[in-house]
Amino acid sequence: MKLFVTGGAGFIGSNFIRYMLGAHPDYTIVNFDKLTYAGNLDNLRDVEASPRYRFVRGDICDLSAVLAALEEGTDVLVNFAAETHVDRSIEEAAPFVRTNVLGVQVLLDAARARGVARFVQISTDEVMGSLGPTGYFTEESPLRPNSPYAASKAAAELLVRAAHRTFGMDVLIVRAGNNYGPYQFPEKLIPLMITNAMADLPLPIYGDGRHVRDWIYVEDYCRALDLILHHGRAGEIYCVGARAERTNLEVVELILALLGKPRSLIRFVEDRPGHDRRYAIDPSKVEREFGWRPLETFESGLRKTIAWYQANGAWVERVRSGEYRQYYERMYGRRRVIG
Ligand code: NAD
Ligand code: DAU
Repeated sequence: MKLFVTGGAGFIGSNFIRYMLGAHPDYTIVNFDKLTYAGNLDNLRDVEASPRYRFVRGDICDLSAVLAALEEGTDVLVNFAAETHVDRSIEEAAPFVRTNVLGVQVLLDAARARGVARFVQISTDEVMGSLGPTGYFTEESPLRPNSPYAASKAAAELLVRAAHRTFGMDVLIVRAGNNYGPYQFPEKLIPLMITNAMADLPLPIYGDGRHVRDWIYVEDYCRALDLILHHGRAGEIYCVGARAERTNLEVVELILALLGKPRSLIRFVEDRPGHDRRYAIDPSKVEREFGWRPLETFESGLRKTIAWYQANGAWVERVRSGEYRQYYERMYGRRRVIG
């Protein structure tokens, strides 16, 4: 099978490429990535020499570049490429609309022109908004995005749906919860807290820390994607979650305990505007249709993740230098401490 992966130099994309090359010794993969601040070829050093892997630097908004890179006979296009960080979308939404909306339409047009057999849109549970203290997101939940990031991903879903209905394209939409694991850029909660705690820096928790996320270890998600892209039904949505709801405070306290660091590193800081209170996914459909189950518990996945960050100090050093320092100062430098 020939796969065309966009955004493969980011967190989930790089884990997915490594996973698929290992799981399917006869598959070839083209990784098409713009290498924004979040794209990092160091994430794929161990596979870059494989004759079954090829990297192309390019922007998904650039139709001629996508057409040039898309090989005849591509079986599946998996679109991970996106601007992905909610806080950055609150700072400036335009790059999110450009890549996450326009870029998806360009990919759909290119995929149709090249006769790509299947198009997999990597979406997110955030398109469904925020839950109260009970209930779960399912494939039937309405789109109710609350951040510019979530709104751009919801718009992308609608374009993908329209391509299916209008042109009969074979498309799938996959909505996952919060992924964590190796190679995640330390702007997101878990790698930020691990790398700060390792350096004895303060751990900034937004608001009261009782917001809930539903965590999935990235390799479990990659296994689910493997099943979905092979066996999913055209035009369907699939929600993937590991039934692992935790409050942010619980997550941070567990990281501190596993690292043997003091609770006094915690700082409660000014909340994120429009902060979604709770995400929780009902993954019954993927469990029922594909027999998928996560292999990691939240605790075992977090142990593996921490061990990876501890063993990869040079990677951490490189990503925490340069643009990251300015970002950190902008995001946290003047944020009010509330407790
Ligand atoms: P990431 O931010 O780590 O990586 C994004 C990648 O996309 C980077 O390599 C970047 O260079 C590339 N990219 C950005 N704009 C591009 C463009 N215009 N053209 C080509 N490449 C471009 O992202 P991630 O956390 O790995 O998320 C991957 C996908 O999964 C995204 O679509 C995201 O919305 C979705 N998702 C992520 C999570 C999560 O917890 N991380 C959960 C659910 C869904
Ligand atoms: O649910 C899937 C989504 O998960 C993906 O679509 C997004 O791409 C991904 O960024 C993530 O969004 P979140 O906003 O949930 O993730 P983030 O890691 O930014 O934050 C997780 C929770 O932790 C959220 O409630 C905000 C809180 N938080 C985050 C940071 C960075 C803090 O309390 N302090 C922080 O410094």
